Amino acid sequence: MEHQQTAAPLVPSRLSLTTLRSAAAGCTACDLYKTGTQTVFGEGLETARAIFLGEQPGDSEDRAGRPFVGPAGKLLDRALEQAGIDRKLVYVTNVVKHFKWTPRGKRRLHEKPNAREIGACRPWLEAELRLLRPEVLVCLGATAAQALLGKSFRVTKMRGQILRQADYAIMATVHPSSILRAPDEESRHSEMELFIRDLKTIAPLLQH
Ligand code: URA
Repeated sequence: MEHQQTAAPLVPSRLSLTTLRSAAAGCTACDLYKTGTQTVFGEGLETARAIFLGEQPGDSEDRAGRPFVGPAGKLLDRALEQAGIDRKLVYVTNVVKHFKWTPRGKRRLHEKPNAREIGACRPWLEAELRLLRPEVLVCLGATAAQALLGKSFRVTKMRGQILRQADYAIMATVHPSSILRAPDEESRHSEMELFIRDLKTIAPLLQH
């Protein structure tokens, strides 16, 4: 039998975070399940008003089975707090739900997911969007932004702008790990300030 290229047939008809998470745990729609420890599904409350979308789980997330729990996640938590955004209103997830990596000595180096892997995983994100019906989707970094807004979308040019889609607003900003990679303390600080400024733009959409 030909290998399944999309998660679509696995998405349960009765949507809840529990049914979705347990169906996604057995996903083999692309080959990343072979090298990832486990599926890392989105996390947060079903009543969350914002979905924050990263690229894929990292090394810590792959081990923990939870998104944004490593260094990038900790930075995101700090930035949300400084932007005055209640963490309970935020659901975090990724475009691709398995960690893609390549060995480098004893380390597992992050590798970008390709279009086939992104396409195979997309039904999970679509189901999360249908279930949560967020006010706003925040794309963290180019992979997330381009998956939602097209290949020609440039985060550097359009960051922090609220774009209207049919059912929810979209705002794209940098990935928190890019701030961690800043070359020195001063640029890390200014990148963090810009990130917080971008996050503040969505705060009014989360009220009432
Ligand atoms: N980077 C991501 O894009 N997602 C995570 O869950 C962790 C790090």
